[in-house]
Amino acid sequence: MKTSPYPHLQQRDAKPVTVSDLARMKAEGEKIACLTAYDASFAALEDRAGVDVVLVGDSLGMVVQGNSTTVPVTVDDMVYHSRITAAGLSRAFLMTDLPFLSYGTKHDALETSRRLMGEGMAQMVKFEGGEIQADTIEHLSMRGVPVCAHIGLQPQLVHKMGGFKVQGRGDAAQTMIRDAKLLEESGADVILLECVPSALGAEITANAKVPVIGIGAGPDTDGQILVIYDILGLSPGRKPRFVKNYMDNADTLDAAVTEYVAEVKDGRYPGAEHAFS
Ligand code: KIV
Repeated sequence: MKTSPYPHLQQRDAKPVTVSDLARMKAEGEKIACLTAYDASFAALEDRAGVDVVLVGDSLGMVVQGNSTTVPVTVDDMVYHSRITAAGLSRAFLMTDLPFLSYGTKHDALETSRRLMGEGMAQMVKFEGGEIQADTIEHLSMRGVPVCAHIGLQPQLVHKMGGFKVQGRGDAAQTMIRDAKLLEESGADVILLECVPSALGAEITANAKVPVIGIGAGPDTDGQILVIYDILGLSPGRKPRFVKNYMDNADTLDAAVTEYVAEVKDGRYPGAEHAFS
């Protein structure tokens, strides 16, 4: 078991999830339940509820820091939040985002990953991009860095793309299918697919040997991920279609997160109302 300065927050006898467990879950058809967390208390809550993968997302730039995009987040921010999130975990696998322009070269990507894994205790790094990231993924993978390739909607490109929009419609679908294959062949251990039509989510998942985690990518991906503040109804303003507020039918935070895990595991989440066509 991982050791923590906050042992009271942890499940004492749970076997930690590994990257091999994620591959096994895909092979056995067990859905992978993932959520973001940004600190030890939420991490421990998610761990207790049976979340398999906790992501320290650069969404912290929006939901924790109050910015309108993820662009201002720094490597120091990610290292700090990753470390304090790791402190709350006992069983769940910890993945952490590389922030905007911290992986523009292979050298930068390796150095940022070294900090996130060495200081931030991350067990896998995630970063955005299709074909353009193939060399970087190979570079990291060959040096022992587990990688999650984030394709589909890439929030760090918000200013380039002019907003947060569904991706992979029309001809773009074939490009995304090719990108997913290429990134897997380059050494990605997990693919994260954001905001794409359900049919495309299903096709990429069926073709992938590695687990595919979806957010707004339909019911057929190998797992689901959401932002913790969204499922607890804490995020103000208009919600993306794929968000479900689990506090609507729960009396406690534990009950809400436990229900999210149960619904991902048995396929009740996401419903048709959370998907794009
Ligand atoms: O930063 C983030 O929270 C993400 C999402 C996929 C959940 O990348």
